[in-house]
Formats: sequence, C-alpha cells, structure tokens
Amino acid sequence: MNGTVYALYFSPTHTSRAVSRRAAQSLAEALNLPFEEIDLTPPAARGKAYPFAAADIVVFSFPVYGGRIPALLEDTLSLIEGNGAAAVPVAVYGNRAVEDALAEAADWLEARQMTVIAAGSFIGEHSYTAKVGHARPDESDLSQAAAFGAAIAEKLGRGDRSPVAVPGNRPYKDRAPASPGAPVTADTCTKCGLCVTGCPMGVIDKDDPAKIAPGCIKCCACVKVCPLGAKSFKDARVTAITKMLELTCKKPKTPAWFV
Ligand SMILES: Cc1cc2nc3c(=O)[nH]c(=O)nc-3n(C[C@H](O)[C@H](O)[C@H](O)COP(=O)(O)O)c2cc1C
Repeated sequence: MNGTVYALYFSPTHTSRAVSRRAAQSLAEALNLPFEEIDLTPPAARGKAYPFAAADIVVFSFPVYGGRIPALLEDTLSLIEGNGAAAVPVAVYGNRAVEDALAEAADWLEARQMTVIAAGSFIGEHSYTAKVGHARPDESDLSQAAAFGAAIAEKLGRGDRSPVAVPGNRPYKDRAPASPGAPVTADTCTKCGLCVTGCPMGVIDKDDPAKIAPGCIKCCACVKVCPLGAKSFKDARVTAITKMLELTCKKPKTPAWFV
C-alpha cells in the first residue's frame, strides 16, 4: 500500500487536533505509511485548495458547533480535491451532542470525491466551560482514538474500502442564529500575544489585544490559551449556554466509531 495518512483538522482549543493526530498516527504506523498534518486553524491555512491522491487517507477532525460543522470551514471544504482518497470524518464535541455534524462532514467529503471508509465521534473539554468534559480527550479517549486508527488499518489491510453509514439527519438541523460578540479582556493582560496568534479569525489586535475586530466566532481559543485567564465571554448567550451545560451535560459520554 502507498499513499500518505493526513490528519486534517480545525481545532481552536486543540482537542480535535489531539484526537485526529492520535487516530491518524496509529493508522499510519499500522499501514507503514507516512503521516502528515494539515492545520486549518490559522486564517492563512483556509480558503485554499488541498489536493489529495487516490491512495491517501484523510482523517478530518473538527469541533461540533451547534450540532453542525463550523460554518467557516465550508469555503475550505468546497476547495478540497479528493481525487478518490479515503476519508475519515471525526467530530469532537463538548459532551453535549454531535447531532448532524458527522453526517454533514461525511457529505462534504463525499461531494469532494472521497470515500468515507470510517467515521468517529470523540469528546473534548467544552470550549465554554472546563466543568463539562473536563480535560478530555484524556488518556482513555486517546487510546480509543489509537484503537480506532488500528481498526481502520485492519479494514484497509484486507482490501476493504467500502463506505460506512454515518449517523445524523438530512436535512441537517438549522444553524443557531449568529450572535455577534467578543471576549472581554481583564487588566491582568500582559499583551504577550498568545491570544493574537491563537485566534483562528485573526481578529485580535496585536498591539492592543483588548481590541477585537468584528468576526469573532466565540471558539474560546483566546480564553483557553491565556495563562492569566485574562479573556472571558460575558454576554448573555454564552452565560446562559454555559449554565445549561453545567446543569445538564456533566455525565461523561463515550467515543463512538463506525468502520
Ligand atoms: C460556538 C460553539 C458551539 C458548540 N456547540 C457544541 C455542540 O453543539 N455540542 C457539543 O457537544 N459541544 C459543542 N461545543 C463544544 C466543542 O465542540 C468542544 O469543546 C470541542 O472539543 C472543541 O474543539 P477544539 O478543541 O478542537 O476547538 C461548542 C463550542 C463552541 C465554541
């Protein structure tokens, strides 16, 4: 077998990255194939074409936002050149629900001439609150991601590239209406710039990180990357969702995969 195993991901708070890395590395090792990463998180990485070859296997991981794939990925997904490659969508969600995000990702990859040979959903610490899905993916989650990669290798090793059925409704649930907003910045900010480089939208001012240009998607990359906890969201919508999550979504969920 030739080709390359790719971990392709968008991951503002790094949980999707951790899962796709582990699954794709395990898959590459089992098949003795090279492994490469494509990180779609920085603004400059999106909006351009990524061509794959028929022998490639692409593990595409992303956070679930409102039961859907992040809307900002649509432009980049529409430019993927699948060329018959195998694809593995992996939804990473904050212990609430995946809803239609995995089906949506599978549909995108198939529309870009890829075959969805496996799919998975894993849990990451919720972007809004560390009390939900705390510190996940943990070692158990990552071992399961590795086992998932090995199961995909086993399938391909016996010459099976058949498509899998992926859970989710079509049409997908409606996206939540946009709610403009931005993080607030406490006086403890030292202007170290970690939030500036970590922001996937490039909207945080590099000279004055308290200034946020329009376009924030509330992904919480800045909140989680700040070592001083100087960034937070105070708007009513984020506060209400956080309260609901902490009341109803604390019971740990388990990863699921389809091979
Ligand atoms: C705007 C937004 C919407 C979200 N919607 C959901 C959701 O519908 N279901 C869920 O379980 N988690 C939801 N989450 C949580 C993320 O999916 C979860 O924390 C994920 O691990 C973040 O991935 P990342 O670390 O790769 O950024 C949402 C997070 C954000 C920022």
